[in-house]
Amino acid sequence: MCGIVGYTGKDLALGPVLEGLRKLEYRGYDSAGIALITDAGEKLWIEKRAGKLGNLEEILGDKVPNSHSGIGHTRWATHGGPTDENAHPHLDNEGKLAVIHNGIIENYLELRQQLEKAGHIFKSETDSESVAHLLSDSRKKHGGDLAAAMREVCQQLRGSFTLLAIHSDQPGRIVGARRNSPLVVGVGDGENFLASDVSAFISHTKRALELGQDEVADITADAIVITNLTGKTLPHNEYEISWDASAAERGGFEHFMLKEIFEQPKAIADTLLGRISGLESDVTKGIDLKNIDKVVIIACGTAYHAGLVGKYAIEKWANIAVDVELASEYRYREPSVDNKTLLIPISQSGETMDTLMAMRYAKEKGAKVFAVCNTNGSTIPRESDAVLYTHAGPEIAVASTKAFETQLIAMYLIGLHLGRIRGTISAELMAEIESELSELPAKVEQVLETVEPLRELTRKFSKSTSMLFLGRHVGFPTALEGALKLKELAYMHAEGFAGGELKHGPIALIEDGTPVVAIMPAAGSLLAEKMASNIQEVKARGAVIIAIADSPLAAANHLVRIPTTHEFLQPVLSVVPLQVIAYEMAIARGNDVDQPRNLAKSVTVE
Ligand code: AGP
Repeated sequence: MCGIVGYTGKDLALGPVLEGLRKLEYRGYDSAGIALITDAGEKLWIEKRAGKLGNLEEILGDKVPNSHSGIGHTRWATHGGPTDENAHPHLDNEGKLAVIHNGIIENYLELRQQLEKAGHIFKSETDSESVAHLLSDSRKKHGGDLAAAMREVCQQLRGSFTLLAIHSDQPGRIVGARRNSPLVVGVGDGENFLASDVSAFISHTKRALELGQDEVADITADAIVITNLTGKTLPHNEYEISWDASAAERGGFEHFMLKEIFEQPKAIADTLLGRISGLESDVTKGIDLKNIDKVVIIACGTAYHAGLVGKYAIEKWANIAVDVELASEYRYREPSVDNKTLLIPISQSGETMDTLMAMRYAKEKGAKVFAVCNTNGSTIPRESDAVLYTHAGPEIAVASTKAFETQLIAMYLIGLHLGRIRGTISAELMAEIESELSELPAKVEQVLETVEPLRELTRKFSKSTSMLFLGRHVGFPTALEGALKLKELAYMHAEGFAGGELKHGPIALIEDGTPVVAIMPAAGSLLAEKMASNIQEVKARGAVIIAIADSPLAAANHLVRIPTTHEFLQPVLSVVPLQVIAYEMAIARGNDVDQPRNLAKSVTVE
């Protein structure tokens, strides 16, 4: 998820572009850059730097030439680390065309090979740079028409993209396009804007045009032309932005956490993109995954819970022993590790010191390290042999939601990949899992449609002193995650249990009215019956049951329905109501949802 801004109009472009990037910096902040078409001499002028936007602003000083049209970008790296070269904009080899991109070009490797064979010189490791070279070639075929070139190039791309491009032969003109990634037009008076979201230009105009899938916007200071990819001109669907500036930064949501809960379908889709039938070759090129005899997952907090779910899938599909370890405990056990151990550190930030130190310990003993991380270029992936990046985009709220979902996806993808390599997963099971994975974004959308009544229900328990979470099989780590969310957001005692464990002591906790959230296994499964008995045990002692289930459950006092899916994938769906319960409880208790007390987004101390 990156920040994208374009300005063309009566004012000098630098101000509105930088202001827009500041507003969008929450979308990505590991590098930033701008490109302008100078008034004098109509040249392309560019400056870009790794690091936060401030790094770029520092070096700009007063050396920026006058220009009335330009584009800017803040990056959340997906392909290629956060370096000056990988920062956007990217140029063609003539240095006259600049392009910025948000999203993932799934077929970038094959495009790059074709372009290099045709003599194009690449300067970065990014998927985005291919677009600059494609546009440069296509422009020449279309008599210098940048919009026509954009329409043609978009038809060659697979994946998700928001693109803005400028060319020094057409000063004042900015061409944008989008597919599965946002782009809005800001309609001004003698000026126009293009941006990833309205927060970039809301202080200048509240008039906006939403672009649909595979639509191209061709703007100048006084004109806006929108077409489809065949060049057919489309009507303008102008609307008035109702948000204020701060609400716009959260996409109109009250908190970043709620925004990120609702971003989960896209985060899952982006993490799955191009990987369901096999991991990209550049993900696993640095590691030999054949010669391993055990897997050790190390992580903390929510990431640890994702690892616990991963254990079930990897053990079953790859027929290999999987240990899941709390990173903070792991190395103090002095565990046996050798070069047949595949160590999988899971970390959203890539900077968690407990996980990093555990990884270094295992690496010194010969383990192969295959990281799962959401932050490109952070320490853990840099010190790993291979990394599977999740594509959740920046997660601003301290409580991990979309990062957790994409960590689950990464676990499933690694389980499938190892199963293929080891020949331990049948073709029909693989086909079933691949099919169910592809349906997850839509099924999470369905769960999100049931959120409102759940928010109302949660408020009934806001005075409770404790809440218990029960689950079995992959529902057990889901219960642990639900309890953690409630603790860290509502500051309420909460505990997750394996359903079968309750009768061995914890059931003594049950009093009249104790709220118990039961994460039900898939209907009809053996464990569903066992879980139903566990529910009866606690209900008989006064518990109030909130069941998360894919089918009706008579014993439940309250039922939250989720769609059916493969039993191993169910946590992707059942965790969403748990996130909402924790979110709503935090609000009911007047807590700071995005920045809960005592917590940090990345714990970089042991
Ligand atoms: C979860 O909501 C917390 N933010 C915390 O448990 C987090 O998952 C843990 O600190 C690990 O962080 P990491 O994924 O960045 O390594």
